[in-house]
Amino acid sequence: MNDQLTVLSHPLVGHIMTELRDQNTSPHQFRALVRKLSMLLCYEATRDLPTVEKQVITPVAPAQGVMVDQSKLVFLPILRAGLGMLDGALELVPDASVGHLGMYRDEETLTPVHYYTKLPPQFEGRGAIILDPMLATGGSAVDAVEKAASYGPAWIKFLCILSAPQGIEKLSKAYPDVKIYTAAVDQCLNDHGYIVPGLGDAGDRIFGTVG
Ligand code: PRP
Ligand code: URA
Repeated sequence: MNDQLTVLSHPLVGHIMTELRDQNTSPHQFRALVRKLSMLLCYEATRDLPTVEKQVITPVAPAQGVMVDQSKLVFLPILRAGLGMLDGALELVPDASVGHLGMYRDEETLTPVHYYTKLPPQFEGRGAIILDPMLATGGSAVDAVEKAASYGPAWIKFLCILSAPQGIEKLSKAYPDVKIYTAAVDQCLNDHGYIVPGLGDAGDRIFGTVG
């Protein structure tokens, strides 16, 4: 039991995951499914956002409501597959800022190679939500959290569509304060560091670059 970890448990999430895994799912369908799951993950991960009270007048009577200060949130997609999750996240929190973490996993060493970073300069008092569909060995996630943490956010959460036990363990051990949200946890990694049974290469399936 890992209290850092939230696994979405819902029949509709299972249904979407099954469609996503199917090798016959087209990039167009795949993107739409990733977007839906990203909204659901983001919904869970923003449960504890602070609110401020606001009164509005309905056509019938005054009503006491609440508002979220969306400027207190920064989404950090890991390029390139994390971009597939951004639309769904922004659908829920449209006024959040977005920073980009460019890195890819070296196919031989399975270690992340950084090639681009563009984050908002001001992180003080803001929370950071890292977006990446795949948590495999955990190398990319740990590097992304390290980079985000160096900007001093109030907190960091990690959202992924699919995760492997190895990646969850690596990220949890390196950063016990970082909460992880995932739609499913698979069995293991294969010799090439791919999640099994997984869904293949998320970036390739999102962007239609499957060889
Ligand atoms: C994938 C994925 C993660 C990383 C996960 O990216 O989107 O960033 O691999 O693997 P790890 O947990 O073992 O580090 P990839 O390197 O394929 O880059 P891409 O998104 O540009 O295709
Ligand atoms: N990255 C992917 O895109 N898929 C995996 O299974 C592992 C890492």
